[in-house]
Formats: sequence, C-alpha cells, structure tokens
Amino acid sequence: MQENALTVTHLEKTYAGGTTALRGASLSVPAGNFFALLGPNGAGKTTLIGIATGLVTPSSGALEMFGIDAFKEPERARRAVGVVPQNLNLDFFGKAIDIVVNQAGYYGIPRSVALPRARALLADLGLGGKMEARTRELSGGMQRRLMIARALVNEPRLLFLDEPTAGVDVESRRGMWKYLRTLVEKGVTIFLTTHYLEEAEQLAKRIAIIDKGAIVAHGTLDEILALDTGPTPTHEDGFRGGRLEEVYLKLTHAPANSAHL
Ligand SMILES: Nc1ncnc2c1ncn2[C@@H]1O[C@H](COP(=O)(O)OP(=O)(O)OP(=O)(O)O)[C@@H](O)[C@H]1O
Ligand SMILES: [Mg+2]
Repeated sequence: MQENALTVTHLEKTYAGGTTALRGASLSVPAGNFFALLGPNGAGKTTLIGIATGLVTPSSGALEMFGIDAFKEPERARRAVGVVPQNLNLDFFGKAIDIVVNQAGYYGIPRSVALPRARALLADLGLGGKMEARTRELSGGMQRRLMIARALVNEPRLLFLDEPTAGVDVESRRGMWKYLRTLVEKGVTIFLTTHYLEEAEQLAKRIAIIDKGAIVAHGTLDEILALDTGPTPTHEDGFRGGRLEEVYLKLTHAPANSAHL
C-alpha cells in the first residue's frame, strides 16, 4: 500500500475565544502527490496547517506525517516538513540569502552546505538577482517566493503552502507552478491551499474541500468533478466559473457574489 505523507483523523479545534475552526476533519494525502485543500475564508485551512506544523494546539483528533504521530512525537514528525505560511513573516531588514541560510541553521545544516543550496533555491525561484537585497526592498510576490526558498532549505519531503500564489503575478505564478511540479516529480509531497480554483485544477492530483471545519469532498480531481451531476446554475450575478469552481460553489453553498465570512 502507498505510504501516506499526511493522515488527519477527526481533527477538532476550538480556539480559546470559543470559535470552532475544525469539526472532525479527516483527510489523507498519499506521498508524492500534489494535494489541494480548498474552502471559503474561515473554513479552517490555515488552522489545519497550523496544527500539522505545531503552531496551533488541537482540541482532539489525530495527525500523522509519514506514519509518525505528530502529537506524540512532534519533533520527529516535523523534521521532514516545510511550511510557507499565509501571512508574510520575514525579517524585514534581513538579506534574502541570509534569511534562507539562517533557516538552515535551525536544522543544524552547516553553512558550507546551506550557502550553495540557498543560492540555488533563490535562483530557481527567480530571485537570483536579489540575493543581497533586504526583504523590505523586495516586492510582495518576491517576498512570497523568498518564503518558499526558506521553506525548502531543509529539503522537506512534505511541503505545506498556504496560499503561496496570493499576490504573485501571472508569469511568476507559472514559473512557481513549474518549479513546484519538478519538486513533486522528485518525490516531494505538496499540500497547497488556494482560492484560485483553476490553479488547483492544473496542479493537484487530489483535492479536498473544507467548509465550516468539515471536509465536504475528498478525492481525485475527476472524482470531485463527477460530484457535479446537476445542471450548471445561472448565477444571479452572471458569473460562470470553470468546472471545479461550479462543483465547489455547490458544495460550499457560497453564492458567487458572497464573501462567505
Ligand atoms: N488564533 C485564532 N484565535 C481565534 N480564532 C481563530 C484564530 N485563528 C483562526 N481563527 C478562527 O478560526 C476559523 C478558521 O480560520 P482559518 O484561518 O483556519 O481559516 P482559513 O480556511 O485559513 O481561511 P482563509 O481562506 O481566509 O485563509 C475562523 O473563524 C477564524 O476566525
Ligand atoms: Mg487561511
């Protein structure tokens, strides 16, 4: 049987303020896959990634990465994991190259190994000309690509990308997709959240849709598209999306013109 990079079982999370972000969410991601978690604002995507990466404490449930219990053996489970958070969290005054090299230091990677690796990552992500630039001198899309380079410096087997293409221009986005695909071809598992459904359609082999903390669909892209049996509704606002977008809207009950907050 194929190994799972991630297995989430009946995950529940209620924040201290009383908001329940996850209501028994379960999903699995086979290793070596490009996986997309889709859902409206506030559905629980970032919370789930936060639990997997140790930033958020779960209320109950289980989570394994490559078969290792992330709650019982968090350090061992997270050794092979990288994360690009939704919100920018870069040292504003640090230089791009130092940010990536310093991250390697947290994993005990010697500088002699980290430096060439950091240079290669920055070049691969289109930041070859910005290695000595400080974060505050980079554009928003460049800062996001710097966060990806930083997340890859420990050569993770599982990479969480929380809306990595938000604010990234079309050409850079395509460059990023191409690069991420080469990682998956090398065996890396990528767990992506995005609000660009065409992006999920292009990249992801498997998809889960989360709504109000619960998984409402989970399977291959074809299996998800097959859930859409009825006629495509004519939206009041006159918009019409791609096939995945139409299934998504039916499953999340979000009218196309609603912010769904
Ligand atoms: N630190 C926190 N404290 C309290 N409530 C929180 C916290 N973080 C998130 N929430 C709440 O948990 C719910 C899920 O939020 P989460 O950030 O996981 O959603 P999301 O699916 O990532 O949304 P988006 O698409 O907007 O990024 C929301 O109702 C949010 O207000
Ligand atoms: Mg989020």
